[in-house]
Amino acid sequence: MLDQNVILWELDQVKTAEALEERFQKYLGKKWLLPAEFKVMGSLSPEEKREKWQQLSALKTALESAYEKKNSEMSSAAINEMLEKDLIDISLPGAKLDQWYYNLLAKTRREVEDIAQSLGFIVDNSTDIVTKFENFESVNIPITHPATEMHDTIYVDKKDHRWEPFVLRTHTSSGQNFLIRKYGLPMKAVIPWRCYRFDEMDATHDTMFYQLEWLYVDKGLSIANFKSIITTFLSAILKKDVEIRMRPAFFPFVEPGFEIDARYDIVDPKTGEKTKSKWLEILGAGMVHENVLKAAWVDVSEWWTGFAFWMWINRIAAMKYGIRDIRYFTNGDLRFVKSF
Ligand code: DAH
Repeated sequence: MLDQNVILWELDQVKTAEALEERFQKYLGKKWLLPAEFKVMGSLSPEEKREKWQQLSALKTALESAYEKKNSEMSSAAINEMLEKDLIDISLPGAKLDQWYYNLLAKTRREVEDIAQSLGFIVDNSTDIVTKFENFESVNIPITHPATEMHDTIYVDKKDHRWEPFVLRTHTSSGQNFLIRKYGLPMKAVIPWRCYRFDEMDATHDTMFYQLEWLYVDKGLSIANFKSIITTFLSAILKKDVEIRMRPAFFPFVEPGFEIDARYDIVDPKTGEKTKSKWLEILGAGMVHENVLKAAWVDVSEWWTGFAFWMWINRIAAMKYGIRDIRYFTNGDLRFVKSF
């Protein structure tokens, strides 16, 4: 006869899951020891048989519940042990996640926007899709101007309610009309971001490029005002002492118009000696043309004046970070993106 106490004691001594499984198979599994006991019953009298049967069933139930208990004890012990081993010290600094980077152009744009805002300018991207009117005539570019030809301008296959075709803006100056009407006067705004021209791609040209337009309209503005704003802005963005010079130039939307060159101090890190950089041609500027104000319904008899200037964001980024090929900005090479 199997001794229940011995079996239960043995079960209690079990330390590993394998040993527990082996015990289970021995007594309760397919080849359990109990069938042997049942065989013996054939030679017993009916009363003895009933008694034996009851004994064996009780043993079976006892074994099963002991097994269950042991099993759940062991598995919770195993879980506890695992938890203890895997304890996480949440006060330790986390692993640095390689999450995201600003593209250098976006980063430069944000820097520009911060400076513009600190000088009191609204940042308004205007829209990438504008009417042909906004892109050209509203900024005093006659419809016969060669830039309006198909090879330069990318047309959108849609027209507005006046049957005016939509185009992808070829310059941010196209936002001037819209923003003057949107904000009213006086107003100071910068229009950053994408412009499109149909162009062959090379190291310095791309179909999509990034401009930054500054527009300031108020009463009694002069060239002295914009000279000061431009110098302040360039010194802040390039983090250098910048000096500018102005050369007369023609742009249809301004009168008079200028091309502006800038140079800055270069300090020799060894000797501390100061020299000047070369003059770099970096932006276009001028006093807003009367026709541009008129196109935005401004009453010019009231002495409204304005100035506008513009530069390429690519150019600022290239100057600031020493990039020679503008294709790096948009070709998605993560090594490039991560290095700034
Ligand atoms: N919108 C001109 C272009 O993309 C650039 C420009 C020149 C804008 C002079 C200005 C400016 O505001 O004053 O060709």
